Amino acid sequence: MERLQKVLAQAGVASRRSSEELIKQGRVKVNGAIVTELGTKVDPASDIILVDNKSIAQEKHVYLLVNKPTGVITSMHDPQGRKTVRDLVKSINERVYPVGRLDYDTSGLLLMTNDGDLANRLAHPSYEIDKVYRAWVKGIPSKASVNLLATGIELEDGMTSPGEAEILFIDKAHNRAQIQLTIHEGRNRQVRRMCEAIGHPVVTLERIRVGFLTLDEVRSGGFRHLKPQEVKHLKKVLK
Ligand code: URA
Repeated sequence: MERLQKVLAQAGVASRRSSEELIKQGRVKVNGAIVTELGTKVDPASDIILVDNKSIAQEKHVYLLVNKPTGVITSMHDPQGRKTVRDLVKSINERVYPVGRLDYDTSGLLLMTNDGDLANRLAHPSYEIDKVYRAWVKGIPSKASVNLLATGIELEDGMTSPGEAEILFIDKAHNRAQIQLTIHEGRNRQVRRMCEAIGHPVVTLERIRVGFLTLDEVRSGGFRHLKPQEVKHLKKVLK
């Protein structure tokens, strides 16, 4: 027997926390009865579990590479009515959800899937998956500051772990620079806070790569399915 929220997360319905919300909202039925108590034990092999009256067992795994524009929230629902990443993948029937998050003001590569297991591993810093960002920042950072971004910088939630950082363009006329940053963690607003910490706040931020996956031809606001060999490769990397 397993806890209901764990079974939902493992089936790729939603993250563990979002699964708890689904239960509390009365959207989950076990053998025909609505269950709102967190921690209810179920047998995934024999109990019939429905979310919004749809069986959790039926979904095949779907892996999407989305090019999120700015002005879209990385959430499946926004009480304030802003556009969400769910709106970007409306044509997909499966309940995919985002792997990690990009800020409202950040654009770029976001993976979405209903494979909870792979999503958890992708988001976990211990796998050291590269996340590569391009940022235009205010002012022209010194080499020493850029080195700090790479080696580690003290933020309010601790030191950042080592990554890579380089200046791509210096635009003296507009007093700004473009930097590329590779990190392996996914703390809240991490890149923005790192750039702020060296005194060069981010003006625009885009994620251009996650692991071996790049945005290639995917237009802003569009998405594509991962190819079977890409999924296979991801699973191998995340073993
Ligand atoms: N770091 C940030 O500051 N914002 C993002 O959206 C992603 C990484």
